[in-house]
Amino acid sequence: GEPSSETATFSEEQERLVLSAWNAMKGQPTADVALKFFLRIFEIAPGAKQMFSFLRDSGDVPLENHPKLKSHAVTVFVMACESATQLRKTGDVEVRQATLKRLGATHAKAGVADAHFEVVKTALLDTIKDAVPEMWSPEMKGAWEEAYDQLAAAIKEEMKKAA
Ligand code: HEM
Repeated sequence: GEPSSETATFSEEQERLVLSAWNAMKGQPTADVALKFFLRIFEIAPGAKQMFSFLRDSGDVPLENHPKLKSHAVTVFVMACESATQLRKTGDVEVRQATLKRLGATHAKAGVADAHFEVVKTALLDTIKDAVPEMWSPEMKGAWEEAYDQLAAAIKEEMKKAA
C-alpha cells in the first residue's frame, strides 16, 4: 500500500515500549507465553489448525504438549520483537532476505491469508496484554501493532512473489 507517515517511522518511544514488554515477559517462561499465544489463535480461528502439517499429523497429542507448536510460537514472538528494534534503526523490517524469502514460500504454500495475519495479530496483542497487564497501554498496543504489521507486510510481499 501507500507508505504513510504512520508506518514510515517507528519512534524511540515505541521501541522502548516493545522492549519493556518483551523484557518483562522474559521473567515468565517464553514457551508458556508463546503457547498461550497459539492457543488463543486457535480459539479465535479453530480452522487454522488444519494449516499446520505437524498438527494435522499429531493425532491425539494435546496442543499444549506440542513441541513444534511451541517453537513456532516462540519464533513469531521473537521475530516481531527483533523486527521492532530494527525498525527504528533502519526504518524498515530487517529480516535477512533469505529468511523472508523462505517465509514467503512457507506461508504461501500453507495457504495463509490476510485474515489469518489479523487473527495472529489479535492473539499476539491479547497475549501480551495478559502477560504484562500493569504495563499495558494504548501506546504499547500501538507500538506492538506497528511492529507486527510491518513484519507481516514484508512476509505478505514475499508471499506474492512466491505465488
Ligand atoms: C511456518 C514465522 C504468521 C502459519 C512458519 C515458520 C516461521 C514462521 C519462522 C517456520 C518455517 C519457515 O521458516 O519458513 C511467522 C511469522 C509470522 C507468521 C514471523 C507473522 C509475522 C503466520 C500466520 C499463520 C502462520 C498468520 C496462519 C495462521 C504458519 C504455518 C507454517 C508456518 C501453517 C508451516 C508449519 C508447518 O506445517 O510446518 N511461520 N509466521 N504463520 N507458519 Fe508462520
